[in-house]
Amino acid sequence: MLNIGLSHSTRIGGGTQILAVGGGKGGSGKSFIAANLGVSLAKRGHRVIMVDTDLGGANLHTFLGLSPPQFTLDDFIKKRVDNIRSVIVNTEIPNLGLVIGARDILNAANPKVHQKLRIIRHIKNLDGDYVIVDLGAGNSFNVLDFFLLSDDGILVVTPEPTSIENAYRFIKSAFYRKLRTLTCHPEARQVIETAMNQRNERGIRTPLDLIEAVEFIDGGLGRMLMREVEGFRPRLIVNQVRTKEDVDVGFTMKSACLRFFAINLSYVGYIAYDNEVWQSVQRKRPLVLERPYAKASRCIAEITNKLMKKQQLTFNF
Ligand SMILES: Nc1ncnc2c1ncn2[C@@H]1O[C@H](COP(=O)(O)OP(=O)(O)OP(=O)(O)O)[C@@H](O)[C@H]1O
Ligand SMILES: [Mg+2]
Repeated sequence: MLNIGLSHSTRIGGGTQILAVGGGKGGSGKSFIAANLGVSLAKRGHRVIMVDTDLGGANLHTFLGLSPPQFTLDDFIKKRVDNIRSVIVNTEIPNLGLVIGARDILNAANPKVHQKLRIIRHIKNLDGDYVIVDLGAGNSFNVLDFFLLSDDGILVVTPEPTSIENAYRFIKSAFYRKLRTLTCHPEARQVIETAMNQRNERGIRTPLDLIEAVEFIDGGLGRMLMREVEGFRPRLIVNQVRTKEDVDVGFTMKSACLRFFAINLSYVGYIAYDNEVWQSVQRKRPLVLERPYAKASRCIAEITNKLMKKQQLTFNF
């Protein structure tokens, strides 16, 4: 079992920032983006640990050129090791460690609640400048719970109606899931359960409707949930962009989320559609390492700058 052996670099502001990368639709580029953001941050001297929580289809290691995994999340889930840190493997990139996703898909894809909570607890205790968590497709409770590791996870969408539709559904489901875990009030919980069904008979269609319904039951709780909405600021990346209209999808989604959900997405940037991407995946080499001047690499560099700036701002003021 390898010890990560990360060299100690200067922390930019103290604390570990968790970036979970999700978005609903399969194949939108979540793992590609997670891997390349991780490499990009590590190349700038940050200590980065990546965790592949795609429990049914782990493949983040392939994006980083690591083959056949020796130790995986499975060893942690099955308690063959006590701490998730013990299954971090070194990558060829200094400062970048990876927890390879579980391979025992039959058991790992459907972990028991206590197993999931243990994974979440250990991820929250990882020590690095950034912990990047790659999520599976869909919006199952498992995926949502990993996304909710932080209030500002990264949502990846491609400029296609199906992907956009899934992303809206994902944001809404994540938000409802978050509210449900915060609420003990049985009647309010019932309202939230009801709201999860889009065609519910109470006519709750958006998070704002939901908060109004909760406020009706308990004013204080309604106001608390409203504050939670304000703190919930997922970041948005539009991937596989070909036109200016594609870039604008991010702005449209941002205003629609604010208007209908009262959720203030942070649009951190877009990534160009680039043939170099699939070629790098074929070669099992991170794009930003192999082709730092490719269109998509330059987009990732810009997004990396924004993420770092945000952390500096968060900690310095
Ligand atoms: N910007 C891009 N330009 C061109 N191709 C891309 C781009 N981003 C992703 N792809 C292609 O999409 C494929 C799927 O990407 P990836 O595996 O990262 O998706 P995913 O969202 O993680 O999928 P899953 O939900 O199945 O885990 C990549 O192998 C790559 O070929
Ligand atoms: Mg993936």
